[in-house]
Amino acid sequence: MTLSVSQTFAAMSAKLEHIVPPAELMLQAELVVEIEELKRERNAIILGHNYMEPALYHTVPDYTGDSLELARKSAQTDADVIVFCGVEFMAETAKILNPSKTVLIPSDRAGCSLAESISADDVRALKEQFPGVPVVTYVNSYAEVKAETDICCTSGNAKAVVNALDSEQIIFIPDEYLARNIARETGKQLIVPKRNSKGELASGQPASQGTLISWNGKCEVHEQFSVSDINMIRKQFPEAVILAHPECPPEVCEASDYSGSTSKMIDYVKNGAAKQYVLMTECSMGDNIAAENKDKELLRLCSVRCPHMAQISLEMTRNALRDLKHEVTLPEDILVKAKKSLDRMLEIA
Ligand code: 13P
Ligand code: SF4
Repeated sequence: MTLSVSQTFAAMSAKLEHIVPPAELMLQAELVVEIEELKRERNAIILGHNYMEPALYHTVPDYTGDSLELARKSAQTDADVIVFCGVEFMAETAKILNPSKTVLIPSDRAGCSLAESISADDVRALKEQFPGVPVVTYVNSYAEVKAETDICCTSGNAKAVVNALDSEQIIFIPDEYLARNIARETGKQLIVPKRNSKGELASGQPASQGTLISWNGKCEVHEQFSVSDINMIRKQFPEAVILAHPECPPEVCEASDYSGSTSKMIDYVKNGAAKQYVLMTECSMGDNIAAENKDKELLRLCSVRCPHMAQISLEMTRNALRDLKHEVTLPEDILVKAKKSLDRMLEIA
């Protein structure tokens, strides 16, 4: 059924009136109606990551979720076009899992500091330094890196993937903090191979038994959180439950009450008995959760936004569907090799 602009505005207001100003909601409602029409014309679906801004997150996506859930959804769809409202590595993942479909990303400037931190050459150098050691790559990486990888993981299944590998040593790239958090949870040692001033790997760092060999990639958003933030929050809001994404530094995750993927954090708040929550993650997600849990208070840390996720708006999503841009294309050999590492992940977890 097609909703009119005023019906769409009413539905959006019911959910978002305390979060998005009404004048803005009216403009957004017009875009929502346009996008719904374009979706039908193009036989398209929209996948929306949990970090999307509230007016987008709560309207046009057919599915919302964390990286793992959206990868699963993109592997299952029979739509002709997939519009990925998220960042580039996520849209690439959808393309790798659906090579015959048209995959669009609304902005061609939605990168990720973790994905930028490592190249396929870096992975080949690591494999030379640690021959025969399996490579686990966080999905926050580009296709060329996934193509050099034995198996991918997300924040939602990283521990399960590491535990499923029958190997005393594992190369786990590129997120050093996620690697440290997983090492702590699985009781493994962690080493980060040293690099010289040119970024080349320095030799002479043998890995011992039970070791995760990581990389020094960081999420530019989550690395900003500190234990002193947590101490201040606890002092001012002693009742608040603190949740941290596993891309945060390990001491932040340890000092928090819970750590999990974006969807796991959403479920935790939804099912939690407490009234007040603080999320150590991208600010928009607090708005999205608040809109659906009106009995709970989300204390937002809104100076912390992912500049890449923030590129994606309803207007750009409309433009993407209208003009069929920006299409994700990848070389055939990379697609084939990268798909193996994602398929293995989806089989395990
Ligand atoms: P999730 O898989 O937990 O949604 O995380 C993706 C991400 O980029 C977090 O910064
Ligand atoms: Fe990348 Fe961090 Fe943004 Fe997630 S929040 S997309 S890891 S830069």
